[in-house]
Amino acid sequence: MTINQTNWAKSSWKNFTALQQPSWPDQDAVESVLANLSLLPPLVFAGEIRSLKELLAKAVTGDAFLLQGGDCSENFSNVTAPNIRETLKILLQMSIVLTYAGEKPVIKVGRIAGQFAKPRSADTETQDGVTLHSYRGDMVNQADFTEAARTPNPKFMLQGYNMAASTLNLLRAFTRGGFGSLQRVQAWNQEFVAHSPMGRSYDRMAKQIDQAIRFMETIGISADTPQINQTQLFTSHEALLLPYEEALTRKDSITGDWYDCSAHMLWIGERTRQVDGAHVEFLRGVHNPIGIKIGPTYELDDIKKLIAALNPENDPGRITLISRLGMKKIEKVLPPLLREIKREGFNIVWSCDPMHANTYTATSGHKTRNFNDILSEITCFFEIHWSEGTVPGGVHFEMTGNDVTECTGGAHNIIDEELASNYLTSCDPRLNAEQSLEVAFQIADMIRS
Ligand code: PEP
Ligand code: CO
Repeated sequence: MTINQTNWAKSSWKNFTALQQPSWPDQDAVESVLANLSLLPPLVFAGEIRSLKELLAKAVTGDAFLLQGGDCSENFSNVTAPNIRETLKILLQMSIVLTYAGEKPVIKVGRIAGQFAKPRSADTETQDGVTLHSYRGDMVNQADFTEAARTPNPKFMLQGYNMAASTLNLLRAFTRGGFGSLQRVQAWNQEFVAHSPMGRSYDRMAKQIDQAIRFMETIGISADTPQINQTQLFTSHEALLLPYEEALTRKDSITGDWYDCSAHMLWIGERTRQVDGAHVEFLRGVHNPIGIKIGPTYELDDIKKLIAALNPENDPGRITLISRLGMKKIEKVLPPLLREIKREGFNIVWSCDPMHANTYTATSGHKTRNFNDILSEITCFFEIHWSEGTVPGGVHFEMTGNDVTECTGGAHNIIDEELASNYLTSCDPRLNAEQSLEVAFQIADMIRS
C-alpha cells in the first residue's frame, strides 16, 4: 500500500492541534512512561494487520461482512477471564449467525484489548460546586469524583498496555486453542440466553452446524482443519491518546512500513476527525485499517478530504466509514453521502454504528438506547444502500456478553424502570448478550437477501 508519507513521522502529529487530550500535571512523568512503552514489545504484528486489511477489502465489494463490537469503554477492573470469555463468546455467536444464516464470511473485530480512553463533551465536571477533570477512561484517570482519582496519571498508560497484553494473550489462547472451534458452537450459548426465544433459534442453528460437521467426517473429510477448529478475532480501539499510539508505532522489519501495533484496526472518533488535526496527521502515516466515525452534521467536503488524506491510493480495506446518524436522520443524511462517495469512486467499507446517535436519558435518569431504534437505524442503513447501489459492509456495536440492563427493548422488553437492576457500564449503554444475538439474527436476514 502506498500512503502519503510526505513530511510524516510518528511524532509529526505534535505540530497539529490534538483535541481531547488530558492535561497531564507532570510532563516529565509522561515522557518517562512513553520511553518505557516504546521499548516494550508490539501488541499485534504487521502481518496480522495486513491480513485484516485484505479481509476488509472483501467487505468493500460485499464478499465479506465486518462485525465490530465490544464495550464503549473497557475498565481495568473488568479485565478478568470470565469477562473476556463472555465478550468473545457473544462475538463468536453473532458471527456464526451471520455466517450460517446470512451466508457471508464474517470479519470479527473487537472493541477490546485497548479501548481505555474516551473523548468527553467537556474537559471538566462540576458537582456541588466542586470542579474536577472529566473522567477520560482508565488509561488516563479514575471515575471516582475526587481530586486524586480525577488527576490524569501517565502510569495508567503503562497499565493499559499491560491490560491489553493480558487480554490479547487470553483471546489468542481461546481463538487458537479450541475454544473457538466450530465443534463448540452449542457451548457458546449461555445459560441465561439458552432459554430465551433467541437462544432456542441459536440452538437449532448450532445443531444443524453439528450435523453438517458430523456428515463431513462420516464421508471422510477431516474436521481437524484450522477453518473448523480455529478462529480469528482482531482488536480495535479509538486512536485517541496520541502519545500512547505513537509509542506503540513500529517499523515493520519485512516491508519497512510503519504500523501502529497497539491494535489491528484504529478508528478516529466523531470529535477528533478534523482534516487539519493531529489525529488525522498521525493516522495518515500508519498502515493499519482506519475507521472514521461520521455523525449527522458531517460536511461532505471534509469527508472527501479525510479520505484523500488517509487513503491517497484508494486502497480497498484501508478506510471503513462508520456512519452513526440516528434513526431519525439517517434517511435524510446518508443518501447524499453515499452518492458523492460513489461518484468519486472511493473504495470504502460502509459500516453502521446504530448506537451513538440513538442515545437518550430514560425516566430513571439512565443513559440508554432502545432496541427498536437501533434495529431501525440498521434496517434503514441496508435499505438505503440497496436503493443507492452501494454495499452495506458491516456493523459496529457497543455490546457485552453479560446479562446487563442498559438498553431498553428487545425480546425481553426491558423497560426504563428495569434499567437500574443491572446497569454496569461506565460509559455508554451496551446491548446485552440476548439483545446482541437478536440483532444478529435480524441482520442475517438482511445480508442474505
Ligand atoms: C465511541 O465509539 O464510543 C464514540 C465515542 O463514538 P463517536 O466518536 O462516534 O461519538
Ligand atoms: Co460509546
